[in-house]
Amino acid sequence: MIPESFDIPSFQQRPETYLGKSRAVSEKDVFRFLKQAIRAQGLSPMRFLDVGCATGDLLAFLGNNYPDAQLAGIDVDARLIDVARRRTELSKAQLRVADGLTARLGKFDVVTSFGTLGIFDAFEPLLENLVANTSPGGHVYVQALLNPDDIDVRIAYRDNLNGLDWMRGFNIFSRAQVSRWAASRGLKTRFSDFRMTSFLAKRELLPHRAYSLDLADGTRRTTNGLCLLLPETLMELHVPT
Ligand SMILES: C[S@@+](CC[C@H](N)C(=O)[O-])C[C@H]1O[C@@H](n2cnc3c(N)ncnc32)[C@H](O)[C@@H]1O
Repeated sequence: MIPESFDIPSFQQRPETYLGKSRAVSEKDVFRFLKQAIRAQGLSPMRFLDVGCATGDLLAFLGNNYPDAQLAGIDVDARLIDVARRRTELSKAQLRVADGLTARLGKFDVVTSFGTLGIFDAFEPLLENLVANTSPGGHVYVQALLNPDDIDVRIAYRDNLNGLDWMRGFNIFSRAQVSRWAASRGLKTRFSDFRMTSFLAKRELLPHRAYSLDLADGTRRTTNGLCLLLPETLMELHVPT
C-alpha cells in the first residue's frame, strides 16, 4: 500500500527566501516568460489572482505591465502578506491570508500560482481550486516542477547545514498525469519548458536554493543541493467558455 503522505510536517516557510538579505530576486525571468505566454494567447486580462503570492513580487510585476488590471493575492503566511500590504506598488491590490486549496475569491481572467504546487503531495486539490477561481474562457498559469516522463516524484529533504527538520516543497508531478486529469475536466493544457537566461550563483549557506548549471550542449539549467536537475515548467490550463 502506497502511503498517501510522508510522515513529515506540512509545509514550513523558510523566511529568508522572501524576507531579509538573502531574499530571491524580485523580478524573475519566469515573470517575463509568463508575460510572453499571455501575449502569445492574445489575452488582455483585467483581473489577476496570484495564489501563494508571498510578498507580492509577481503581482507587482503584473501591476507594472497591466496598469489598469485589478490584482488579488493570497498566501497562508501572514508575515509575507504583511510585507506585500506595505508595498506602494500593491496599494490597490486585494491581499489576504488564505488557503490556496480552498479560498474562493471570485472569478479572475488569469490565475497564477508560482513555486507552490510542489509543496503538496497531490496536484489535484490546488489545480481544482485555481480553476474554480477562474472565469469561463480564463487561463491558469502554474510554474512548477513537471516531469516530461510519466512519473510522479515525492521529495522530502533535510537541510542539516541550517539545523532544519525534514521539509517539502520540491515534489515533481508527471505532465501526462496532469494532462489526463485536466482532460477529464474539459480543460486544455500546455506545458512550456522554462529555461533561465540570467545566471544564478550557488548560495553555499542556502543549499536548497536553485542555481545555474551550464550544460555541455549549451543549455542553461537549474539545479540545487537536493541533487535535482529541476524540470522547470510553465503550465497553462485553458478553462472552457
Ligand atoms: C516557494 S514559495 C513561492 C512564492 C512565490 N509564488 C514565488 O514564486 O516566489 C511558496 C509559497 O506558497 C505559500 N503557501 C504554502 N501553502 C499554501 C497554501 N495552502 N495556500 C496558499 N499559499 C500557500 C507559502 O507561504 C509560500 O509563500
